[in-house]
Amino acid sequence: MAHLKIAPSILTADFGRLADEVRAAEAGGADILHLDVMDGRFVPNITFGALLVETLRKVTSLPFDLHLMTVEPERLIDQFADTADTINVHIEVSPHINRTLDAIRKLGKRAGVCINPGTSVAAIEESLPDADQVMVMTINPGWGGQQMIPRQLEKVARIRAMLDAGGYGAEIEIDGGVKVGNIAECARAGASVVVCGSSVYNAQKSVAENIAELRAAAGR
Ligand code: DX5
Ligand code: ZN
Repeated sequence: MAHLKIAPSILTADFGRLADEVRAAEAGGADILHLDVMDGRFVPNITFGALLVETLRKVTSLPFDLHLMTVEPERLIDQFADTADTINVHIEVSPHINRTLDAIRKLGKRAGVCINPGTSVAAIEESLPDADQVMVMTINPGWGGQQMIPRQLEKVARIRAMLDAGGYGAEIEIDGGVKVGNIAECARAGASVVVCGSSVYNAQKSVAENIAELRAAAGR
């Protein structure tokens, strides 16, 4: 069975000791670091931008998976040219998605297209050949710590089937509500990357313990 990549999201980490929180994820066996950029417009919250991502780039060698929850994401891409490994943009704010994915690839980055729970898979169908990753939101974006909308895993399976039928190489990443109790199901539905926010950064256990438990529950 293929290795399931775990991508902790720092959204519920302690921002007062963020560098240590990121180092803990790397030491604990994370594969990727997921970074949620929110603009207060596409989603209600505002988180952080390129400056913080540049700061974190110096404290870890984990690949950076950038999740742009912003309007006009194409205007921000260049700011992450030296830091991100994958740049994910939402279909809901990308009328020219193929041009945006192309611009991301021209920077030498992996290009991801994200789809909200309320958006039909048909919206991304024409972009699948141009994407390195499809990020399926299993919550309505904006906050960490929400419950996964279970029906969205069925959507993951449909996208997996579309990718396989077309012979496209894009990976599927699941973002939202991934926990010990559903991580194996995420992998079975066809994801190869899972974002884990509050299931990694919480008050109950250490980052390393949480990653180990998620890994064990995934069974791969
Ligand atoms: C929410 C973000 C997620 C968030 C996930 O809008 O896109 O990446 O950090 O947090 P959990 O895993 O707690 O749902
Ligand atoms: Zn995210």
